Amino acid sequence: MSLVPMKQILDEAERGGYGVGAFNVNNMEQIQGIVRAARETNSPVIIQASKGALRYTNLIYLKKLMEAAVEENPNLKIALHLDHGNDLEVIRTAIDLGFTSVMLDGSLEPDGKTPRSFDSNVDITRRAVEMAHPHGVTVEGELGTLGGIEEHVQASRVILTDPEEAAIFVERTGVDALAVAIGTSHGAYKFKDTPTLAINLVEKIHALVPDVRIVMHGSSSVPAELIDAINRYGGQMPNARGVPVEAIQEGIRHGVRKINVDTDTRLAATATIRRIFHDSPTVFDPRDYLGPVRDAITAVVKERMIAFGSAGHNDDYAPTTLEAMKQVYAARRHS
Ligand code: G3H
Ligand code: 13P
Ligand code: ZN
Repeated sequence: MSLVPMKQILDEAERGGYGVGAFNVNNMEQIQGIVRAARETNSPVIIQASKGALRYTNLIYLKKLMEAAVEENPNLKIALHLDHGNDLEVIRTAIDLGFTSVMLDGSLEPDGKTPRSFDSNVDITRRAVEMAHPHGVTVEGELGTLGGIEEHVQASRVILTDPEEAAIFVERTGVDALAVAIGTSHGAYKFKDTPTLAINLVEKIHALVPDVRIVMHGSSSVPAELIDAINRYGGQMPNARGVPVEAIQEGIRHGVRKINVDTDTRLAATATIRRIFHDSPTVFDPRDYLGPVRDAITAVVKERMIAFGSAGHNDDYAPTTLEAMKQVYAARRHS
């Protein structure tokens, strides 16, 4: 069974110079669609669940579905990751559920809007590390606030990740991975105009903290064909725009190793359902539309695994365990 700590997947990606997609899940079709893509491209994969996903599935359903994915694919390197945990309680919950990685997103106050102070972010992230590492569980932190570069300029405050601050943050918290703000944002409306990203920050952060894996959130590309299909079949998503795959590839060349994608699989699902309901108004068996949704998710995830360069790398290394990671972290604490 190759349920592995996320740190191993990302360290191997660093060695190989590629990126690994981290795909959000809330239900069975998403999980099956994603692991099938990993199987068919022979790619390691990170499956991640937000606090909302845990709530939606009453925890236990998602846990069991994720376990099923691991059990069904004993040779795939799979990490189970908590996405955007924003308090220590949810970190504890994820560790207890058997996740091999957690994100403590201390970039915002609990209201989810107000930027948190640097010191307060350091404090809560460090406490998450103290909670997770004794279990061998990987920790991702976040510094900076996601959002378009134009908005930052208008707000005239520095919320893109500052490389010097990132180095101090890593030193003080002990995180394994760091989500950086370089101009991406969540959802389907990322840019009003031409996509602009501060890839130079990735390069600087990678040089300053080479042992920490850089994470790019808000990395959906919002494919025009999916938006066109959604709009053609009754949806209303004008001006939706994502991060071009080429921009992500540039990020990978400069050190991005984990790439978060949620919106693209949501769009694939919605475009498929809208098309089927439009073309086949008599359909009422959920399997007749959720099956094709699963196929559409596999297709988009396979494209990403190939584009990010993780395809073909699943068998490069032997799996490690949380137990082994416990020793690594313990040795670091005592050194
Ligand atoms: O970053 C957020 C992810 O897309 C998860 O979204 O909180 O709606 O599950 P969610
Ligand atoms: P997207 O909305 O671009 O898919 O970003 C997802 C994400 O960052 C999840 O943490
Ligand atoms: Zn995110």
